[in-house]
Amino acid sequence: MTRSPDSRAARELAGLGVELVRADMADPGRMRNVCDGTHGVFSVQNPMIGGEHAEFVQGRNVVDAAADAGVSHLVYGSAGPGTPSTGVAAWDVNFEVAEYARSRGLPLTVLRPMAFMELMTDKDLYPPVAAWHLMPRLVGAERPIPWLAAEDVGALAARAFADPASYVGTDLALAADIRTLYECRAIWRRVTGRNPKRFPMPVWLFQKFVGPDLTRMWRWLATHDVDVDLTETREHHPTAVTVEQFVRRRTQPPGR
Ligand SMILES: NC(=O)c1ccc[n+]([C@@H]2O[C@H](COP(=O)([O-])OP(=O)(O)OC[C@H]3O[C@@H](n4cnc5c(N)ncnc54)[C@H](OP(=O)(O)O)[C@@H]3O)[C@@H](O)[C@H]2O)c1
Repeated sequence: MTRSPDSRAARELAGLGVELVRADMADPGRMRNVCDGTHGVFSVQNPMIGGEHAEFVQGRNVVDAAADAGVSHLVYGSAGPGTPSTGVAAWDVNFEVAEYARSRGLPLTVLRPMAFMELMTDKDLYPPVAAWHLMPRLVGAERPIPWLAAEDVGALAARAFADPASYVGTDLALAADIRTLYECRAIWRRVTGRNPKRFPMPVWLFQKFVGPDLTRMWRWLATHDVDVDLTETREHHPTAVTVEQFVRRRTQPPGR
């Protein structure tokens, strides 16, 4: 589902044989049409685009459309500790959307990663400013962080859809590796032979690009321990990549 079937990413998917459907999660009527007759729905919203209120409204629209259409399985791409009132708006919205889905009686699986490994590599997430400068400052370079690669969320969602008897009704805290940012930097140096690029920027300036919630999240991580069981994630997805495997894949050509 995309708002722009003509975008490069959408056309790449179509090239793999994926059927594209144009829809906007902000449009409840269109969402109902899209969910009609579907077996399952994977739902994820992005607060960075429209803000937390839009994220909640879109999440609720997807839940309502899936419930009204009577889909067999809703897999929700959540994030964070899975507790209410953390003060981090994006996580609180994730919690509320999952609660709303339960209240509508949907067969639900919640996938709940903490930090995506892509924070270290993907330019849209500003790694030189974020992962390599502000995160160490605000989270603390020595704080353990639970990491998962975004593509492994996709693999876990596929497993959940394939095995609803094991997954409906579960809420899974996910991490394939737990590493401090100091360790991540050392892994990067070991794999690439150099330090990751760092671009110092004051917090207030970064917030002009991304809003206040991301830095709030990082400050939360500085003061709260996160209880994630690596073995549980690996039982569900044995080949989920570690930080070292991820950095190797993203920084070295295949075959090395
Ligand atoms: N935990 C972490 O470390 C971490 C890090 C980064 C991101 N995240 C989370 O991961 C999620 C995805 O982030 P991302 O960076 O992958 O975002 P992204 O690259 O901007 O992708 C967003 C996707 O959502 C679709 N989308 C956005 N608004 C939509 C709407 N109104 N209706 C229908 N589709 C819509 C976009 O589709 P089209 O543009 O094709 O319509 C696109 O496929 C977000 O929830 C984000 O908060 C978490």
